[in-house]
Amino acid sequence: MQTTENIRYRFPKDFWWGSATSATQIEGAADKDGKGKNIWDHWYQTEPNRFFNGVGPGTTSRFYDRYQEDIQRMKEIGHNSFRLSISWSRMIPAGRGEVNQKAVYFYNRVIDELLSAGIEPFVNLYHFDMPLEMQKIGGWTSREVVDAYVDYAATCFRLFGDRVKKWFTHNEPVVPVEGGYLYDFHYPNEVDFQKAVQVGYHTILASAKAIQAYREQQQDGKIGIIISLTPSYPRSRHPADLKASKIADTFFNRSFLDPSIKGEFPTELVDILKEEGYMPKMEKKDLDTIRQHTIDLLGVNYYQPRRVKAKEHLPNPEAPFMPDRFFDSYEMPGRKMNRYRGWEIYEKGIYDILINLKENYDNIECFISENGMGVEDEERFRDENGIIQDDYRIEFIQEHLKWVHQAIQEGCNVKGYHLWTFMDNWSWCNAYKNRYGLVSVHLEKDGERSIKKSGQWMKRVSEQNGF
Ligand code: NOJ
Repeated sequence: MQTTENIRYRFPKDFWWGSATSATQIEGAADKDGKGKNIWDHWYQTEPNRFFNGVGPGTTSRFYDRYQEDIQRMKEIGHNSFRLSISWSRMIPAGRGEVNQKAVYFYNRVIDELLSAGIEPFVNLYHFDMPLEMQKIGGWTSREVVDAYVDYAATCFRLFGDRVKKWFTHNEPVVPVEGGYLYDFHYPNEVDFQKAVQVGYHTILASAKAIQAYREQQQDGKIGIIISLTPSYPRSRHPADLKASKIADTFFNRSFLDPSIKGEFPTELVDILKEEGYMPKMEKKDLDTIRQHTIDLLGVNYYQPRRVKAKEHLPNPEAPFMPDRFFDSYEMPGRKMNRYRGWEIYEKGIYDILINLKENYDNIECFISENGMGVEDEERFRDENGIIQDDYRIEFIQEHLKWVHQAIQEGCNVKGYHLWTFMDNWSWCNAYKNRYGLVSVHLEKDGERSIKKSGQWMKRVSEQNGF
């Protein structure tokens, strides 16, 4: 075992070590104890073939029933913090109106159990799981849903805010926009740029209003948002490539980052939307609300960069309007790949993001809220003792952490690192195809858990605060 003397990368005192999860992906118990349906329950019922091997959100990893043993395992692998999300449709089955007391009981137990294990709960309010009743009235395209969400958020702050001191309004707000309204991988799987813009806008507005509600309750914790950042790298220094890369960055990163931190949308985005006739419907005071209620803390999800080049062909004027009518993505020759999944691995991207936050976003307090490696068919790495030998994941985490460390050396305000994810979980339409956990979930053996080699490694890193 490594001794503290030979630690080369030491992290700041009280660094947050842990992992992230989301309700739909781990809880299971989808129709138990009064939970209402969300869009995933509904989509699975209507189109089960959309889901890898036909596995739906009904049971997933059964955290709802097994949270106590799972929290003990978090403790065992050295977590001092852990992100969960609250399921809106479990808390308020119809999305608005009556609160489900069994859900309150469950989340209270989870929070208390975490705290007594010495693990700080980081709680996120919206992780892709729109209550079905809210989707029926338009989901995030609807202003009424913004109001319902703010009531839900205020309810959670009131009920759990005495113990939860790190709150997040949304996880990866770009994903429901892209998945639900542009590229067909989330419900309601429409292709409609105007709606996509409205959804993005309402999400940001809802976030600002939830922050306002949090502060009006005079809560004493921090509140922020979790954004997935895909640094945009141009193919060359040619002005056309540079321009294309800047537009991709504006659409996919800055459209959420800027309003959350600076309180305003990037002018480049607004110019395009105006010019093309796609401005969202807004109300008079919205922009003031967004300006006045910016975040305290940013969660950064980083998986892979975006390689961008200028468009090689004029877009088809008949095709639906898409952000990628302004740029093309390409695969950079010689790039390093995740052999087990096919995503690019570019560790320095995490550093570039942090430096950008330092230089252009006032060095906002932040942490890595997700980073991780999905692996297909990971059972093949299970050894005779039943342990998944995931050295590739250890290397992945270690190489990213080196760059996080470097960013901290250069003054970036980074407070922690959470891996995606604690245990293998149900990943939306991919279901259990790609495994990301520090702990494996053996589906053939009734969801039996076992700590992977990476889990043991994370334990040492967290306990020694470095490696
Ligand atoms: C981001 C999301 O927050 C999470 O829900 C998802 O499963 C992981 N990335 C892995 O793709």
